[in-house]
Amino acid sequence: MTVKKRKSLVINGPNLNMLGKREPEIYGPLTLKDIETLTNDLCEHLSMDITWFQSNHEGAIIDRIHKMKKEKWDYLVINPGAFSHTSVAILDALKILSIPIAEVHLSNTYSRESFRHTLLTAQAATIIMKGLGIYGYAFALNALVMK
Ligand code: DQA
Repeated sequence: MTVKKRKSLVINGPNLNMLGKREPEIYGPLTLKDIETLTNDLCEHLSMDITWFQSNHEGAIIDRIHKMKKEKWDYLVINPGAFSHTSVAILDALKILSIPIAEVHLSNTYSRESFRHTLLTAQAATIIMKGLGIYGYAFALNALVMK
């Protein structure tokens, strides 16, 4: 019997391409590429195809979400970065999807500045993972499968 591989897209928003160089006291020393490799390794048991996408541009993230509608995906994991606090447009795009969504934040945004306490995009999420650092993506993918 062949088991169908589940397909997940992981979207990372602005400045997450600068992990490793960016505020390492908050986000740690690993690059996004390191986190992708770590997550792929930690999720091997899930029998899942994991595709990674990063953009610093709100419109490019919205376009990628729209494109998902024409493709076959089982899950979306998204760390919208700062757009999480501001983007009604990304929230509206996420609401078009009918698959489970996990929103990830490496840091615990509630223990940071008050402007990080509002998470607009998380209104479209099934699961929210925050403060789990570099392991957040792997926890999110496992949680989506277990949901
Ligand atoms: C972040 C938290 C956001 O407030 C910030 O703007 C980021 C990263 C996180 O992963 O902790 O870019 O989404």
